[in-house]
This record gives sequence, structure tokens and C-alpha cells, in this order.
Amino acid sequence: MTAAPAISGKHALVTGGGSGVGRAIALALAGTGIDVTVCGRRDAELAKVAGESDRIFGIAADVTNEVSMASLYQRAESERGPFDIVIANAGMAGSTPAHKTTLADWQKTLDVNLTGAFLTVKPALAGMAARKTGRIIFIASTAGLKGYAYVAPYVAAKHGVVGLMRALAAETAKSGVTVNAVCPGFVETDMLEESIQRIVEKTGRSAGEARASLASTNPQGRFIQPQEVAAAVLWLCGEAASSITGQAISISGGETW
Ligand SMILES: NC(=O)c1ccc[n+]([C@@H]2O[C@H](COP(=O)([O-])OP(=O)(O)OC[C@H]3O[C@@H](n4cnc5c(N)ncnc54)[C@H](OP(=O)(O)O)[C@@H]3O)[C@@H](O)[C@H]2O)c1
Repeated sequence: MTAAPAISGKHALVTGGGSGVGRAIALALAGTGIDVTVCGRRDAELAKVAGESDRIFGIAADVTNEVSMASLYQRAESERGPFDIVIANAGMAGSTPAHKTTLADWQKTLDVNLTGAFLTVKPALAGMAARKTGRIIFIASTAGLKGYAYVAPYVAAKHGVVGLMRALAAETAKSGVTVNAVCPGFVETDMLEESIQRIVEKTGRSAGEARASLASTNPQGRFIQPQEVAAAVLWLCGEAASSITGQAISISGGETW
């Protein structure tokens, strides 16, 4: 997976690049010589990651807002050229039994994880097809491949992301663009810490017990590290992965396949 020479000198967008998985992806891409625009809603997080590499540039934007994403594209592409790589990573997860899920919670989860993913990649599609090159990668989840209890909107949204990826892969197959999803199991990030906290609050179990129970979903008995997801993304961005499209790649220690 030494893709660096083949992909340097390009411009990538990583949504949710200020933290967790997105930050790891941004640093990995920047490390190969790619200019990376990261977005999210919190300026402070974007500034922090931009401070870690001269090749990372933060622009605040909300993936659920088409106007906000259009203005991000306008500014980032005029400053650093068209996006060659788009990583739809921004996401959020809540947790409630399905019968207690409000319409507002359902809608918000779909807005960020599914509609946000669509609004992230849509502005890139025509240009990539015209240039006959491009990489689109969705950070989905094992929740896009199997069901989990108490996260119905998240599971529905991530299954939707995998469907969106497959549709776009079919649509772009002859254009030199590849479209894939990576599907991590539990990754050690803020999102995981929030899930552990929710389990503690709702069940009275200790943080250690909650942590062990989530880690046990991975047959390897551990959490995935953000850098492991970034490594798969880097490989998908390289020339060596030119014929890999339409795939949902599970990064989960064998939890799903
Ligand atoms: N951690 C896990 O166990 C796990 C497992 C499988 C898949 N994933 C997926 O991995 C991706 C990254 O999650 P993470 O674990 O790295 O969690 P995280 O640290 O909470 O990152 C989520 C990122 O999304 C951004 N975001 C949320 N809503 C946004 C919006 N409306 N507009 C723009 N940015 C928004 C957040 O930035 P702002 O708050 O500043 O907007 C944040 O940087 C998500 O798609 C998640 O579903 C995570």
C-alpha cells in the first residue's frame, strides 16, 4: 500500500475532518503530498488539525446545508483546484429504542449521515466525470451492512449510504471515477466515547463494562483505530485501486463480510 507517489499533488475534501476518523484521513492524505480541505461546523477543531500540517486547510461548513456546501466548493476549489478526492466522513449517532425515536431524531440522523453524504459528493460528480478521474469514498459503518439494536435511524442512514455508493459506482463506472465505502466497526474516537457514556447512563453499567461489551462485537476483541480506516482510504485513493469500485469494505476484525 505505498500509494504516495501516485496520488501526491492533488486536492481532497474530507468532511468532519476536524476530529476522529476524518482527522486521521486528512493527516494521512496530507502526508502523501495532497492538499486537503477539511470541513465541519466547529472552527476550533478545524484550526487544530490545520495546525498539524501545512497541507490541511479548514473551512467551516454544514454538510446538511446545500448552500453551505456550494460555498465550500466554490472557495476551496478556487484556492486549491478542483477536488480529485472526496471523502464523505461527517456523521453522528444517537441511541434510543425504535419505538421511542422521535421524528426529529430520525430526521436529524438521516440529514447528517445520508443527505449530508449526498450533498458532499454531488457537486464533485460532473467535474470528475469530465476530467475522467476521481475518487469518492464514503465512511459508512458496519451499521451499513448489518443491524444493531437501539440505533435504527443510524443503521437506516448507513445502509442508505451503501446504496448511494453502489448507485454512484454504477453511474460513474465508465468515467474513470471510482466510488467506494469503508465500513468500520467501533473506532476509538469521540463518537465511541459518547456511545459508552450513553450506555453507562441508560443501563447503570460501568464504563469498563460498556467498553468491553462494545469491543466484543469485533471478533478480534478490540476497537479499530482511526489510522486503520485512513490506511484503507489511502489505498482506495491510489492508482493501484483503479478497478475497485462499488465496494463496501468492512474494517471490523471480521464482524461483517
Ligand atoms: N467511531 C465509531 O465507532 C464509528 C464506527 C463506524 C463508522 N463511523 C463513522 O465514521 C465517521 C466519523 O466519525 P468519528 O468516529 O470520527 O466521530 P467524531 O469524532 O464525532 O466525528 C464526526 C465529525 O463529523 C462532523 N460533523 C457532524 N455533523 C456535521 C455537519 N452537519 N456538518 C459538517 N460536519 C459535521 C463533526 O464536526 P462538527 O461537530 O465540528 O461539525 C466531526 O468532526 C462518521 O460517519 C461515523 O458514522 C464511526
